[in-house]
This record gives sequence, C-alpha cells and structure tokens, in this order.
Amino acid sequence: MMLERPRRNRKSGSVRDLIRETRVHTDDLVYPLFVQEGKGIKDEISSLPGNYRWSSDTLIEEIGRCSDLGLKSFMLFPKIDGKMKDPQGSYGTSEDNYYLKVAQDIKSAHPHITLISDVALDPYSSDGHDGIVVDGQIDNDASVALLQQMSVLQAQAGFDILGPSDMMDGRVGAIREALDDEGFINTGIMSYTAKYASALYGPFRDALDSAPVVNKDVPKDKKTYQMDPANKSEALREADLDVVEGADFLMVKPALHYLDIIHLLKENYNLPIAAYHVSGECAMVLAAAQKGWLDYNQIMPETLLSIKRAGADVIISYFAKDFASLKTT
Ligand code: PBG
Repeated sequence: MMLERPRRNRKSGSVRDLIRETRVHTDDLVYPLFVQEGKGIKDEISSLPGNYRWSSDTLIEEIGRCSDLGLKSFMLFPKIDGKMKDPQGSYGTSEDNYYLKVAQDIKSAHPHITLISDVALDPYSSDGHDGIVVDGQIDNDASVALLQQMSVLQAQAGFDILGPSDMMDGRVGAIREALDDEGFINTGIMSYTAKYASALYGPFRDALDSAPVVNKDVPKDKKTYQMDPANKSEALREADLDVVEGADFLMVKPALHYLDIIHLLKENYNLPIAAYHVSGECAMVLAAAQKGWLDYNQIMPETLLSIKRAGADVIISYFAKDFASLKTT
C-alpha cells in the first residue's frame, strides 16, 4: 500500500492553485527602459528585440500603457550622444543633462509611479567605465565624489530611488550622506550589492553604446570593480557594508546564474532583496523563442517565478511588460 501519493496534490488546476507556494505579481516587477534625446523616437535594440530607446514623449506614452497593465515601477537608462562623452563623464554631473528633464516630465505625467535611476558613469564616460580612469586604473574615491553629485541631481529631478550600479567602495554611504545633506532624506538607495563581472550585459551595452573602449590605457573589462562570478562570501561582505552604509534594498545581478546568491542574501538580511534579470539573460530566451526552440509565453513566467522562488522580493526584468500583458489576456 502506498499512503503517500504526492500526485494527489497535482491532480487538477484548482488543487495546484490552492497549494502554489510562490506567485509573481506585477507589484514585484521593475521594468527597465532606455531613453534617448529627441522627439518621436522608438528605436528597437537589435540584440534585445521588443525593447526600444524612447524619447521623452514616446516614453511617457509607453509608461502610460505599462501602468494600464498594472506595472508601477520603472528603471531608466540614458543613451548619451558620443559627442557628449568625456573621460570624467562630465555630462552626468551637469544640470543640463537631458535625462534629468526626462525624469521630471515623466514624474509630472505619471506622479504615482516609482522611478528608479541607475547611478554610474558608464553612459557618460568616453572610456566606457563606471568610474574615472586615472593612469590606467579606476580611481575609486574620485569616482565616488562624482557619483554623489550625480545622485543629488537625480534626486532633485524627482527620481524616487537611486541604484548605484558602479561597484565603487564606499559609494552607498557617500551617496546617502550627500542626499541627506541636501534634504533628500526620502530618496531611497537600491544598491547593486553583488554585481558580478558577467558576460550577460552585452545587449545593454549595445543599447547605450557603453562598452569599455579598446585602448591600451584603459582597462579592457570591469573586473577590478565588479565581482568575480566564482565568489559567494564576498557577496556577504558587500551586503554587510551596504546595510551599514544605509542601503534600502540589496540587489543581486545577474539573476538566473546567481540564484544561490539571491537565496543567500534573502536568508541573511532583513532588507528587501532585488534581482536584476539582465539583458543577456533575456536575449537568450528571446533568441530561442524566435527560432521556435522555446515557447516564450511559458518560459517567460517560469523564469520570473524561479527568481522569486530563490528569494527575490523585487525583480527587475525586460520581461515585465510581457508578463503584465499575459496576466491581462
Ligand atoms: C552600468 C550598468 C550595466 C547594466 C546596468 N547598469 C552594464 C555594465 O555594468 O556594464 C547591465 C544591465 C543589463 O545587462 O540589462 N553600470
């Protein structure tokens, strides 16, 4: 006789619904969007089909459509014209940065959404790095001073949460201090806590034309600041520092190849854990789906579910809009 028959709890859709342990909700999702200066632009990113660089006007409309689908949080990334880039990323700390105006316009059109910004120099740096290159090295402390200025401008523009993605040491505390000094005590920090030097950022760098330049005086990759994919206890060390420095969220990036790290942080910290399901992870699925090798409408929600099950409270994903659309169809 077999007393235990686990299949009994899988026998129908309604029983499966009843015992389901993990659910992804549109409330959990952050939708990353790329922005470009100009008007009437909707420019598809070839290595990330279905994702676009938008100008302010078309972006405001797109956010409206996403809000109608139930999405509430958006992360913005600016594409900067090559002419505006320099080694110090000066345009990123300029009050004239068009990206700040875009944020203001979005917030006045859609006051209820949560707008998150990425804080790093790479969109603005002619070297394609998240910090400043001095004598062939990334200068940590000089970079942090610029990130502080950038953060204050972004808070002023109306961003609700700032996401330092640069991996410089001490930047979370320095940004917190700069924000507080300027009175932005309610601007949150979603720290890219464990951001790995991954091969999965390719389509994102295509979208912004932000890859490290090939030049003997410039480091060819980001391995002196982004973490080694082999390391796990180092993620705990980074998380300890972010907690002490005042982070409001801890982020792991990428997501699927790092589910163990998401789980580890969820088990060890009381802050909300965010996972960034990055461009390359999404591109792999889209490419396979385009070839007819995977069923997109099945793999897409399964992917988000896995990230949530591992322990992510918040998932930043290019799938967010498609997931929300699936829910309403
Ligand atoms: C830049 C930044 C990157 C991503 C987010 N912020 C690229 C990088 O570090 O080179 C990647 C996101 C993605 O691939 O979707 N600091």
